[in-house]
Amino acid sequence: MNNPIEKTKLPNIKNIIIVASGKGGVGKSTVATGLALSMAMEGYSVGLMDADIYGPSIPTLFNLHNQQPSVSEKNGKPLMEPFIKFGIKIMSIGFMIDPSQAMLWRGPMASNGLKQLINDTNWGELDYLILDTPPGTGDIHITLLQQYEINGAVIVTTPQTIALDDVRKAITMFHSEHIGVPVLGIVENMAWFTPSKHPDEKYFLFGKGGGDLLSDSTGIPLIAQIPVNENICGVCDEGRLNELFSDKIVKFGFDNLLKGILKFQAEMSKN
Ligand SMILES: Nc1ncnc2c1ncn2[C@@H]1O[C@H](COP(=O)(O)OP(=O)(O)O)[C@@H](O)[C@H]1O
Ligand SMILES: [Mg+2]
Repeated sequence: MNNPIEKTKLPNIKNIIIVASGKGGVGKSTVATGLALSMAMEGYSVGLMDADIYGPSIPTLFNLHNQQPSVSEKNGKPLMEPFIKFGIKIMSIGFMIDPSQAMLWRGPMASNGLKQLINDTNWGELDYLILDTPPGTGDIHITLLQQYEINGAVIVTTPQTIALDDVRKAITMFHSEHIGVPVLGIVENMAWFTPSKHPDEKYFLFGKGGGDLLSDSTGIPLIAQIPVNENICGVCDEGRLNELFSDKIVKFGFDNLLKGILKFQAEMSKN
């Protein structure tokens, strides 16, 4: 990484936020989607790019199975039209590849395919482009970080320590000298469970205080906690995202996430 790669400029996109974690299954896609939804509801123009080459789940979350984006032409260049749902412009590597073939994609092939998809999507003017990423800190992350001007990262974790160890590696990557992308905040997903019939009770199914611990040891603020919610699975699997915020505590978590990002960015712009 001694020869810095010239970054691709996306002049119509004001901010790019990457959602990452060291691990799979912690809720990156759920958090990326909820964040995009919160932004759209607040009036921001927002795009969501599913860069999870090995397990793209955005098509499922938005009920866009087996769909293929249409192609339009702009200034003589063919561009892919993102799908628009809930006010969010959506593109997924999953629209391009057969999931059973994804594992056969090698590093450079995956990276090039992804770059092309991002560059050739007709995003229009966006306040925010949210990038949902695969687990870990592999080729896809490196490609995104080297290729684009990323404004910040949101790190998703669950309370277990094993998740936290992996997550630390992801934070180290973002903050490394070569990458230098600020981590805007930590989201502790599946922080606790509150049964709907007992709204005052909290059950810490996966341990307690992991997000705080990580925040204390890294100096990165814990900006949101999202509880385990019995409806999230169904809502996400069936693309009923309009119901994602029907639980007040879930909505509160996502409100905090957006507030945390805006606050961080406001402070950065002062310096
Ligand atoms: N807070 C939550 N409560 C209940 N289920 C959740 C929550 N967050 C995520 N899930 C579920 O957990 C699974 C993994 O989430 P996902 O967002 O796909 O994780 P990742 O993108 O990190 O692999 C999905 O089935 C999702 O619906
Ligand atoms: Mg995912």
